[in-house]
Formats: sequence, structure tokens, C-alpha cells
Amino acid sequence: MEVGIFATESEVADAAAEHLFAVLAAADNKVLGVATGSTPLPLYQRMRAAHAEGKFSLEDFKAFALDEYVGIDPEHPERYRNVLRTELVGDDKTGLKDENLFTPEGNAPDPAVAADEYDAKIKEHGPIALQILGIGADGHIGFNEPGISLVCRTHTDVLTEQTRKDNMRFFDNDIEKVPAGCVTQGLGTIMDATEVLLIATGANKADAVKELVEGGVSALWPASILQMHPKATVLVDEAAAAKLKLTDFYRGRWEATHK
Ligand code: PGA
Repeated sequence: MEVGIFATESEVADAAAEHLFAVLAAADNKVLGVATGSTPLPLYQRMRAAHAEGKFSLEDFKAFALDEYVGIDPEHPERYRNVLRTELVGDDKTGLKDENLFTPEGNAPDPAVAADEYDAKIKEHGPIALQILGIGADGHIGFNEPGISLVCRTHTDVLTEQTRKDNMRFFDNDIEKVPAGCVTQGLGTIMDATEVLLIATGANKADAVKELVEGGVSALWPASILQMHPKATVLVDEAAAAKLKLTDFYRGRWEATHK
């Protein structure tokens, strides 16, 4: 696991964009894994800017989302398919084509069947060359909440109270409006990506980042499974890095390998 520590959220996004452009330019398989939440938004802004300058395009790429709510109004702007359309799809964004954006079908008659189908689709088109990830304050990635199997595949689940509280800012600050269920890539599915890029910013992520990078691998902190990934890059700001022990080592190694 490589850890990059930067002074500001903006510098984290710059580093994430640089990393993503390099990895995708060299990718054998043109498939990107995308995430929602607030954290990746500055990265998506940089991807759009690079596309506008003619330096980057997802025109030839497929994109697979990490997760989706179950039972959300298809027109709701917070439906993750709609969020990702707004951020990435179209020539005025990153060049990604709508038919090449895959999201779990949270409104399928049987979301569990849709979850299996989604996992199969990732296998069919995969491996995902680079999976972008955020992290929850409780250490979740995707909607893999504490207590989850470390090898699970795409599945349906219920959201924890904490995650619904964290997300209610997108739903008129009303927890009752936050969907109670989700379909999410499982930890085993995420681990199949050739590379993963996790971004975390802000002091409320400091505990999760400490457990992700330096804790024991444990279902209590689902993101910690990424310690077992051969190519994981974790980019954090100072606030999110505040509880890490080996920061001098991470900084020195980052400088040595990113001249
Ligand atoms: P956030 O969410 O980027 O909105 O903090 C991250 C996550 O829950 O994965």
C-alpha cells in the first residue's frame, strides 16, 4: 500500500488526477471503477477539465459504479446512476458514453438477482483497471459496513444508522428520506480490480485511515482488506492522516518515487 500525504484537499485531488491519468493511459483493459460521495468530486472536476483541454477522455472506457441505493426514485438526483451521469457522462464532461456507464440495478424486482448479475458483468468486462474509492468514517468502502465478509461479492444489504445519518445531507437532512437498502460491490469484487485508488480528506476520516493503513485486517474496519491488495494507493490530506504513525516513512517513499 502506497500512502501519499498532502497539505490540502485540492492537492490530494491533483495527485489523484495525475495518478488516474497515468494508470488509465497505460491500462490494458479500458474499464474504470467509479465511486460516489463527496470525496471524489474534486477528482471528477479535474477529469472534466482535462477532457475540455483535449488531454483525457473516457470515450473508449466502460465505467462500473461501486454501489447504488435500493428503492430510490429513478429521477432522484442522488440516485448514484444520476450522480455519475451528472459528473462524468457526455462530451461536455469526460466523454464517457451513457451506455458504457454500469450501475447496480437497485430498483430491480429482485435486487439480490440484480447484484449477482452485476458481479457477473464486472467479471465479463473486467478486470477493472483502476477502482476509485472513498471511505466512510466507520471504515466502509462501497456500502460494505463493519461486520461484512472480507471476501463477499456484489450483494444487497441494509445501510447502518451512521451511514444514513452521514448521507442525509443529500436528502433534505431527513434520515427517513435516505433509502434503507443498497446493492454494493463486495470486498472480494473490489479486490479483483487491478489497482485501487482510495481518497480520504478531513479529520472525521482520521480513525478510518489509521485502521485502513496501519490497523489489523478486520471486518470491523472493512477497508483494511486493502492491505492485502497488491496495488493500492491511498491519498489523504493532513487532517485525515493525523492518526497515522509512520508518516515520515510514507512521505519519504512518496518523494522518492514521485520525482
Ligand atoms: P464521502 O463518503 O466521500 O461523502 O465522505 C465516502 C464514503 O462513504 O465512501
